[in-house]
Amino acid sequence: MSSNKADIIVGIQWGDEGKGRIVDLYAERYDVVARFGGGDNAGHTINVGEQKLALRIVPSGVLQPHVELFIGGGTVIGLDGLIAELDKLSQLGVDIARVRISDRAHVVLPYHPAADRADETARGDNPIGTTGRGIGPAYVDKVGRHGITFGDLSRADIVAQRIAFNLERRRSSQGDAGLPSERELIESTLASAQRILPHVIDGVTYIHDAMARGRVLIEGAQGSLLDVGYGTYPYVTSSHTIAGGACTGLGIGPTAIGSVIGVVKAYCTRVGAGPFPSELQDETGERLRRQGGEFGTVTGRPRRCGWFDAVAARYAVALNGLTGAAVTKLDVLSGLERIGIVTGYRLNGAAVGFGAIGQSGFEVEIEEMDGWAQAIDGVRRIADLPPAAGAYLERLESLLGVPVETVSVGPERSQLAR
Ligand code: GDP
Ligand code: IMO
Ligand code: MG
Repeated sequence: MSSNKADIIVGIQWGDEGKGRIVDLYAERYDVVARFGGGDNAGHTINVGEQKLALRIVPSGVLQPHVELFIGGGTVIGLDGLIAELDKLSQLGVDIARVRISDRAHVVLPYHPAADRADETARGDNPIGTTGRGIGPAYVDKVGRHGITFGDLSRADIVAQRIAFNLERRRSSQGDAGLPSERELIESTLASAQRILPHVIDGVTYIHDAMARGRVLIEGAQGSLLDVGYGTYPYVTSSHTIAGGACTGLGIGPTAIGSVIGVVKAYCTRVGAGPFPSELQDETGERLRRQGGEFGTVTGRPRRCGWFDAVAARYAVALNGLTGAAVTKLDVLSGLERIGIVTGYRLNGAAVGFGAIGQSGFEVEIEEMDGWAQAIDGVRRIADLPPAAGAYLERLESLLGVPVETVSVGPERSQLAR
């Protein structure tokens, strides 16, 4: 059966690059938007006119009414959060029958956030700074073969048996603190399951049919530098966030992939702990945070801010096999006299790559460019940008080594320069 290729959009930094608004934009040309990993640790914001949506789990194609929304098998999802998000969308007039969930996705249960918090506390002075949503423990249960899938939710015996086993295991290792009673948890899980089961489908069959009959856009969550294998380990999330994760997260082969677009913030941010070579812990960093509204969508935490990091970006271009890029938040840099770009890493003076991040004797090389004074949020053509903004964009494009397809200059859907 011949099939269309699916295209992927991923974040190439530490998350919050503006994937939601770029997916919303591209989704117009697709029939299905599919999420492949993560859970409600993600917060994807879309602004259309006066309407502002912060999505956690439901794919960012939701404001394109013709698009089907698919939550793939690589995700981990809490039932209460999912129901709340579906209810909220329903109140906004969205037809939530468009939302489908793979039978292979895993359920986040209340004992997962409890374990997440306990683990962070146990790390003492050195926590990861997780979102506290239980994402890590849910993936641990999946890989440890103790998880409950959305497919399992239709089988009360399996749900009851696995919850009983998991609660008992946790009670013996961590005590009773924060754990619900077995009966209570089984009942509430089965009750929520009734609400969700109409959305649960055979995910592998669905995605292959979708590619055969139309066009599929795949939406990444988190950022490439938070990938559990290739990011700034251990300060990462617990899933494969890079484009390769789309194949395992949806049950499709590498030959099913067409283009891979990286969403690139014009500077860098990071929430949570861990190394961040281009971080600005000064007035300029404060300014970026203020101008860019850099506060976490999920936890409200202030995001750490810094210059664009070309070494990290090129590493991410390679990890994802990017074919193109979308640059976001260029408007936030307006008004800066000089703009820095990290163009090299050194360890005790010698040039090194991404793997050296965090070691002692590590330093960055910074190139400076002229800034521009005027606001650019009304610019709609790249050619109409102030010359210094155009030069900065060209420099980003040449450092990335892939074509920049679109540039956003404000949060609203129409605030784009092409
Ligand atoms: P995501 O997780 O990658 O989808 O990104 P988030 O939604 O968490 O964070 C991006 C934030 O920047 C959101 O508040 C967006 O509304 C906002 N945003 C997106 N693009 C632009 C832009 O071009 N300019 C400005 N000023 N804000 C933007
Ligand atoms: P979106 O999709 C930014 C970060 C957390 C923490 C680390 C591990 O909106 O870009 P976790 O709860 O996943 O175990 O936390 O990963 N993190 C994100 N940072 N954007 C995200 O998602 C993130 N999802 C997780 O802050 O440092
Ligand atoms: Mg976000």
